[in-house]
Amino acid sequence: MAKIIVFGNEKGGSGKSTTAIHVAIALCYQRKSVGIIDLDIRQKSMSRFLENRADFKKIRKSDLPCPTYYKIDPSDMDSKSEANSEEEKRFAEALTTLEERCEFLVIDCPGGVSNYVKMAHTVADILVTPMNDSLIDFDLLAKIDPLSGKVVGPSIYSEMVWECRQLRASAKHPPIDWVILRNRVSHVFSKNKYQVGNSLKNLSKRIGFRISTGFSERVIFKELFLSGLTLLDLEKMEDWRPTLSHISARQEMRMLINSLNLTGA
Ligand SMILES: Nc1ncnc2c1ncn2[C@@H]1O[C@H](COP(=O)(O)OP(=O)(O)OP(=O)(O)O)[C@@H](O)[C@H]1O
Ligand SMILES: [Mg+2]
Repeated sequence: MAKIIVFGNEKGGSGKSTTAIHVAIALCYQRKSVGIIDLDIRQKSMSRFLENRADFKKIRKSDLPCPTYYKIDPSDMDSKSEANSEEEKRFAEALTTLEERCEFLVIDCPGGVSNYVKMAHTVADILVTPMNDSLIDFDLLAKIDPLSGKVVGPSIYSEMVWECRQLRASAKHPPIDWVILRNRVSHVFSKNKYQVGNSLKNLSKRIGFRISTGFSERVIFKELFLSGLTLLDLEKMEDWRPTLSHISARQEMRMLINSLNLTGA
């Protein structure tokens, strides 16, 4: 059975695609066979990244490792229930096809909730939720009392994860290992950074997730997309000059991969 790693957060723009791409390529460098499903059928960031990567590989005759990509489409049936069951079939087919060939499946979800998003969360062995280091992003995980600053209860996204966990439990599947990682973390101390850190710590035991080391705010993440490269491929760029920021970013990447414990070592 392939290990399924799902990148999800109801909040848009939190770093799901960026993190999913980096984790998938890191696994490729570990000589693992990796399959990718891009459920962001509208924006297709992951698919576009893989197209850019294939172009780079071809044009530069580079030996870039590439995962196997599976294209999945939304159902265009009019009836909601028919559309849902068609999508269930398509999703199951995607999993079966990739599981035959791959040791790891990386599924990138869009922001918001859809039929596909719920299915992906239900099959996740590991659910990685990147979140911008902001109380606005935290609000989708849990509600905070504005006066005391205490967590008063779960919010919509964590409720959805809870429902998926229930479904897994009733099917006797092992529990989802839910990992939250703070993305775009500022280098300087701020009240926001302190409060997000504290609130996450308080919430983690209550709703059952681990907190992983994440990524700092770094411009390199924005620059790499067009070439389809990741932090791990920088040597493949002809004009690359290592900077302290690149080296630190790679270190954050290594720490993230270790903390995810993907190979169960
Ligand atoms: N650590 C980081 N430092 C700087 N920019 C970042 C970082 N992580 C992500 N970004 C940028 O933030 C934006 C959103 O990232 P990304 O597309 O990965 O988020 P997403 O959660 O997949 O968004 P969506 O919900 O729209 O699919 C992109 O422009 C990306 O380059
Ligand atoms: Mg995305």
